[in-house]
Order: sequence, then structure tokens, then C-alpha cells
Amino acid sequence: MSSEVDQRASKARAAAEAAGQGHVFEHWDALTDAEKEKLLSDVEDVTPEQEVEWTQHGFRLIAEGRVAVLLLAGGQGTRLGSSAPKGCYDIQLPSHKSLFQLQAERLLRLQQLAAEAMGTAAAAVKPLQWYIMTSAFTHAETIAHFEAGGYFGLQPGQVHFFQQGFLPCLTEEGALGRGKLILEARGSLAKAPDGNGGVYLSLARSGALDAMAAAGVECLDCYCVDNALARLGDPRFVGYCHGGARADVGVFARRRVGEPAATEQPSPSSSSPSLGPLAVLEYSELDPSLASAANPATGQLYYNWSNICMHYFSVAWLRRVADSLLGGGGTPYHVARKRIPSVSGPVPGIKLELFIFDTFAMAAGERTALVEVERSEEFAPVKNAPGSATDSPDTARAAVLALHAGWVRAAGGAVAAAEGVEVSPLVSYGGEGLAALVAGKTYDSSLVPELQQPQPAAP
Ligand code: UTP
Repeated sequence: MSSEVDQRASKARAAAEAAGQGHVFEHWDALTDAEKEKLLSDVEDVTPEQEVEWTQHGFRLIAEGRVAVLLLAGGQGTRLGSSAPKGCYDIQLPSHKSLFQLQAERLLRLQQLAAEAMGTAAAAVKPLQWYIMTSAFTHAETIAHFEAGGYFGLQPGQVHFFQQGFLPCLTEEGALGRGKLILEARGSLAKAPDGNGGVYLSLARSGALDAMAAAGVECLDCYCVDNALARLGDPRFVGYCHGGARADVGVFARRRVGEPAATEQPSPSSSSPSLGPLAVLEYSELDPSLASAANPATGQLYYNWSNICMHYFSVAWLRRVADSLLGGGGTPYHVARKRIPSVSGPVPGIKLELFIFDTFAMAAGERTALVEVERSEEFAPVKNAPGSATDSPDTARAAVLALHAGWVRAAGGAVAAAEGVEVSPLVSYGGEGLAALVAGKTYDSSLVPELQQPQPAAP
């Protein structure tokens, strides 16, 4: 093997050891040259050149309409306690934009950035198609919110709503499976959405998968409505999964290192991918002793990553999963214990749910990718009621304002407002393009007009 490979190996080995992952080199000496190349390409750090290449590839996919964005917005938001769909929720940012509006504006900015990256006029970029999964509980109000907001600047034709299915709720009497159906009213059963894993069948049944394939969409970037920092359609990650890893399934995860497991409050979808075949475990089903188990030598958690429910899927893979499910293949339901509204008042009961990651077992033998991201840049979940210490509208707002203040500072501005500052997604998607606006300025308020509206281009 060449000395170049030896040099790369010793650098990668040192980095792996520093990260407590040195064991991946334990068979190095027995590997063939081709196997050494493969292992190195798996573990080597991303170079800035690769990142630029993947980002450019992602912008090309956006501009050519080969990627679409999939939003999971059928949940009932029980813990948040708002009767409206979560996407309509105002987390009390200074602009008071709803989560849906923030996300719509991120799409608009992405389209503009894609045009710039491709050196074309904005009109030459295909509108980024946005598939929004609702449920019977959120559908009408979600559409009404978009209509009232004029689709927040998007073309109505690029936004596609489709509904997931639902399942009856049961009492817990007797062994699981022998619970009784609950009457919600004298003439109707209590039902609940079938979980975000209902997305596969509903994509197929609604005709959305066919429409995507017909339109030349090759892959989807998928995220949850209740992540105030979701970088939907992120060209870096889409470009990496599609062009770099050539993956069918991609999972974005944040690192749990440094978070004391005993006080960890993971979000419902927060789980840990395992080594080997891609797998995500539901945190509430994971034995707490396993969740907090750490390598005694390094102190590192064995279950090192938390799934932030941002995924990449190839359309071909979604089709294979949907066909398998339609053909009778399936995965067991998860059980959520909740108070269920009934004809005689709320009663303790169970909802049955499928999770989006349940099908990942079907990806054995497919190409998968795991991408580690920074929580502070990507994940601000809105799960619990206002005032809750974790994963609440308040913690999400603080995370958004702190991140944006960091962008302003990195671009040469100063932020004196204690809470931070809000940057409209129309102005910046991920901190880009701020230097000309903010350099040398100090912001005393978290709501600044010039950070809310894109400035007209200089003549
Ligand atoms: P969660 O289960 O964390 O949130 O869903 P929820 O259902 O909105 O709130 P609770 O559990 O009742 O308090 C994570 C993501 O999956 C979506 C949600 O909309 C959210 O984006 N989801 C959840 C669905 O799309 N459908 C479902 O049936 C359940």
C-alpha cells in the first residue's frame, strides 16, 4: 500500500481514537488494499472540498426538481396542549411567525440559493415541491392556515397535502391486544393517527409517490413539523446522501456525548442508531440502564446518537417499502399510553402507532447513511407545554435566537439584546449572506427590520 494511504490511515486512526472509536482499525493489518480504501472512505473526516461539492450537488438536485421535501405534520400535539395543528403554533419569536411560515420561507430562500449556485435566474429553478402529511385531526386547519397566509409566498401548486390513516384507540383492560374499543361519542369510535410511520402507506395510497416519480423526483428530505431549527431540504445533506453516499436511507443524528444520560430528556423520536445495519430504537422502549450505559474506558455512551427525525429517502426505496407494506408485510405497533376522550369523559387508554424508522430494518442490504449534526444548529423541538424546562416553545425560541445571534456575530455584527436576534429565513437559510448587512453594527433589539426582509439588490 502506498505511503499516501499509510499517512491517511494514521491520521484517521488518531482521530478515531480521540473520538473513542479506535476499535474500527483493529483488523487493519489483515485488510486487502481495497478493503483499506473502503474503511478509510468510511471513517475519514469530510474535507471542505467534499462539502462544497455535495452542497453544489444538492443545489443542482433542487434546481432540477430531483429532490422534494416531506413534512410530517399529522401528530396531535397532545403534550403541547394547543388545539390547533403544531405547524400553526407561534413559539413567540419576535416576528410571531408560525412554524409553517418559518418552514415555507426556508424553502423560498433555498430556491433562491439554488438559482445563485447554478448561476441562473430564480425563474429557471423548478419550484421545490413540498409534500405535507396531515391527519384527520390537522388537515382542514393546516390548509386553512396556508390559505390565510397566502401560502407564505410559495406557489400553491408546489404544496401538496395528503392525509395519513388512523387507528382505533383501546382501553388497557386485560393483556395487550384484548383492550376494548372506546366510544368517543355515542355513535363514533375514538381514533388516533397511525403514527408518523403511516407515511409510507399514505404516500402510496394518496398517489403522491406516483406523482413524484412522474415528475422526476428521485429523493426526499423528510423532517418533523415541530423542530423550529429544521434545515429542511438542506443541500449539503441531500447532496451528500444522493451524490456522496448514494444512500437509499439517511438519518441525521445529534451526538449525546456530554449530556448526562440520567437527566437526558429525549424527544419522542429521540433514539440511537446502532452500529451495523441502520437501526433506530425508540427511547421510551429502551431500558434506561442501556440508554445510560457508557464505555468505562472512555466514558462515552454506547448509544451515542439521538435521532432528530430528519431523514433522507430515495423515492425508489419508498416505493419498495410501500409495496412491501401493501403486500401484507408489516412491523409491530408501538403503544402510547394517553388519556383518550370518550363518551364518559377522558379515560386511560392506548394509541397504536407506527414509527417512521420501523421500516429501516427493511433497508438491510440497501445503502444507508448516518450524518452527525450539531443540536444547536439543527434541533429545537417543540414538544411540551409553554413553561416546561425542556423541549418547549420557550426552549425552542431561545435556541433560534441564540443561533441567529451567533450568525450575526460570525458575520461581524454585535448583538446586545439579551435573548439574541431573529433572522428571517427569507434573509438567510443557514447564516449565509449576512456580512454585508450586519458587519460593524450592534443590535439592541431582537426584532430588526433589516434582518426580517431581504434587501433589494443594489442597482
Ligand atoms: P410526536 O409524536 O413527537 O408529536 O411526533 P405529536 O404527535 O405532535 O405530539 P404528542 O406526542 O401528541 O404530544 C413527531 C412528529 O411526527 C409527526 C408529528 O406531527 C411530528 O412532526 N406525527 C406524529 C405524524 O405526522 N403523525 C402521527 O401520527 C404522529
